[in-house]
Amino acid sequence: MKTIIEPFRIKSVEPIRMTTRAERETWLGEAAYNVFLLRSTDVLIDLLTDSGTSAMSSEQWAGMMRGDESYAGSPSFYRFEQAVQDIFGFKYVFPTHQGRAAERILFSVMCKPGDVVPSNTHFDTTRANVEHTGARAVDLVIPEGRQPQAAHPFKGNMDVAQLERLIATEGRNRIPLCMLTVTNNSGGGQPVSMANIGAVSALCRRHGIPLYIDACRFAENAYFIKLREDGYAARSPIEIAREMFSHADGATMSAKKDGLANIGGFIASNDAQVAQQERNLLILTEGFPTYGGLAGRDLEAIAIGLKEALEEDYLLYRITSTTYLGRHISEAGVPIVQPPGGHAVYIDAAALFPQIPPRELPGQALVVELYREAGIRAVEIGTVMFGRRDPASGEETTAPMELVRLAIPRRVYTQSHVDYVVEAILNIYRRKDSVRGYRFVEQAPVLRHFTARFAPLP
Ligand SMILES: Cc1ncc(COP(=O)(O)O)c(C=O)c1O
Repeated sequence: MKTIIEPFRIKSVEPIRMTTRAERETWLGEAAYNVFLLRSTDVLIDLLTDSGTSAMSSEQWAGMMRGDESYAGSPSFYRFEQAVQDIFGFKYVFPTHQGRAAERILFSVMCKPGDVVPSNTHFDTTRANVEHTGARAVDLVIPEGRQPQAAHPFKGNMDVAQLERLIATEGRNRIPLCMLTVTNNSGGGQPVSMANIGAVSALCRRHGIPLYIDACRFAENAYFIKLREDGYAARSPIEIAREMFSHADGATMSAKKDGLANIGGFIASNDAQVAQQERNLLILTEGFPTYGGLAGRDLEAIAIGLKEALEEDYLLYRITSTTYLGRHISEAGVPIVQPPGGHAVYIDAAALFPQIPPRELPGQALVVELYREAGIRAVEIGTVMFGRRDPASGEETTAPMELVRLAIPRRVYTQSHVDYVVEAILNIYRRKDSVRGYRFVEQAPVLRHFTARFAPLP
């Protein structure tokens, strides 16, 4: 069969509400043009994030009922630990309430002021948690990863030569660890090849630098390796995932992505000393090590979800639906990061709206238009998220790319929902020359995109 279908049927439905353009205009004004400040009931198709928005399976719901809520030593923890170890292979596994808690604990243990932490591209919470310790977060993705239109099967790869130069200039002692984000969310959801993971790992091991994988979308990355890298076509996603992690010394994970859970995460490593320090911090801020900020039922959902995310029928449908959206808008002329990523399609707002300079936030302009046009919520990944305002001069630093991410929640929307999104984007495309930019009215010093307030430029 050529038709690739959703490999599930629907047992429980959640109504979504149509709204009028006039209503959306009012709500946009009330939210100061920041879609994070909208009520989700006023959103028709929510592509803000693929994080924590998955539909759980009947098996996961059954697991929720089995969840044991004992404070210490719950069997749910041991099922969770076994599932994580089976895929990731690390000795020490601590549950956290979500990915950023794992990051905070890892960087608090490993980093000090003046240190440098390289990655292909740090996600916003990763960067913020590195910088919170006084260390510097450095992005070393390959040049193709910074060019939205460049063709490359693994645009999430790290530039190994640049990493080598960084180690030479900074010195091994200032680099407490190296990160690799799979897939590379902030760089367009692009995968990292096994060859690249191996090369980064070999270089790090030569210098005694631990390599940690930010594993949020490890299953999608494994599937891209299967589809695109020589020698992996006949391997199963779980075998590929195991090989990916065999190159690493540890991982941070937000189970809200490829854990197919609505909350949760973990931190894992092979280093007993690091694990001891992590355990101490975990107890201080998350909870006892056998629940770590989660309920027993959440641990069950993650244990099952990690395995379901590696099923081939699921991954085929997942990658096909993202590609379907990307192909239909790009064939009509909408500039997107090519090829479409695993969990999301990224529109190049700078190329779509050349009349809006980065300082006037072209990505934010597109996010607002999507909601105004059709009640679709997306997220800006550009100057709003990664730019900075110098508190002294008020000078604005812009981001290297002005992207808008359409993140697809897992197992939530059907093909007709995606067709609706395509139609809305093409409507905006037809009137793209009349769209204008935005300015900040208010912004927080860190992670400003969540709470910033904007005003349209005349
Ligand atoms: C690559 C990456 N790392 C880390 C995180 C943080 O995870 P969480 O939102 O669970 O704290 C995210 C979340 O989107 C992510 O995409």
